[in-house]
Amino acid sequence: MSVPPTLPRAPLTLRGVTFAPALFCAPMAGLTHSALRRLLADYGGYGALWTEMLCARQILVENIHTSPWLKRRPQEGQVIYQLLVTSAERLPEILERLAALRPDGLDLNIACPAPGIRRQGGGADLFEDEVRLREILRVARANFAGPLLIKTRLGREIPEWRQKFRERLRLLEDEGVDALTLHPRFAEEQLKRSARQALYGELAGGTRLPMIASGDLISQDQTQALAAQLAPTAGLMFGRIVAAQPWFFAKWQNPGLVVDYLDAWNRLCDYICEDFPATKALERIKQITPYFARNLYFGHTFFAKVTGAPDLATARGRASEFLAQNPLIAPRVTVNGI
Ligand SMILES: Cc1cc2nc3c(=O)[nH]c(=O)nc-3n(C[C@H](O)[C@H](O)[C@H](O)COP(=O)(O)O)c2cc1C
Repeated sequence: MSVPPTLPRAPLTLRGVTFAPALFCAPMAGLTHSALRRLLADYGGYGALWTEMLCARQILVENIHTSPWLKRRPQEGQVIYQLLVTSAERLPEILERLAALRPDGLDLNIACPAPGIRRQGGGADLFEDEVRLREILRVARANFAGPLLIKTRLGREIPEWRQKFRERLRLLEDEGVDALTLHPRFAEEQLKRSARQALYGELAGGTRLPMIASGDLISQDQTQALAAQLAPTAGLMFGRIVAAQPWFFAKWQNPGLVVDYLDAWNRLCDYICEDFPATKALERIKQITPYFARNLYFGHTFFAKVTGAPDLATARGRASEFLAQNPLIAPRVTVNGI
């Protein structure tokens, strides 16, 4: 009987930058801001954190040292900045400004299926536009010396999607991209249906670029069970489960880790309140609540209490009171449907 490959595997090195372990926190708009990254850094255990998708032009006007989208703390370790780019115009200027933050990698999003982003010509729309994509990559490559990555889906669900995807792989190789993250859903699917993990073998085998797997990965046991499908990939990326469990990577390295849920929640809220103005802080706390609630057996009650709160103090008070009573913890955490 053949022995399944074990995970995680070797560190990932791109342009001389080593990411060890090759376990990554996914870019998530509204979630992977500086405050969550700070909490993830407290726990550690990952190879790199992605920022959420940043509107490239916004970088020209934000204060890069105080903006909760842009700023990074030294303890975060390696941080890859993901950009929403729709044209090459002003890209050299944008990258010059970003350089002050010393990104450990630059990731361009050609995956995002949100209609608003696609209407601007970004995300999945850019995947479709070969000429514009090539021009943007050429300018990005010429103006950024570190690891250049792409995050993509499978493209549109059309009979010839495979051929189109392979053409895109050639384009990425030709234009000096160093690695890609594949979220194997079609552009139209949002987070519906399951990620097609069975495709990694075929698609990673069709390129010399290292491929990072993203989509529906939620635990060490599960990735171990999927080891044969994930073996051709060079790294694993986790999204929603990390929003639910910021200690996810630490627990991966140390399965015996005992989690203090009240402390984790309070620290997250403190960090959000430190980095965001009060009105935005409440929004951010409410945004991450459905994920954190998945840890709790009566998560729906926790969710209703926090998201129904009229102000920050009430939200924080209700959450602390709930968690201080040592609530029942869910036996298994899933992130389906959020
Ligand atoms: C709330 C939310 C925001 C997201 N924002 C981004 C984003 O800014 N950029 C991106 O490339 N992907 C984004 N994604 C997709 C994730 O990076 C990831 O590929 C997807 O959630 C599947 O992985 P998971 O099952 O581990 O969550 C987002 C996903 C969620 C749930």
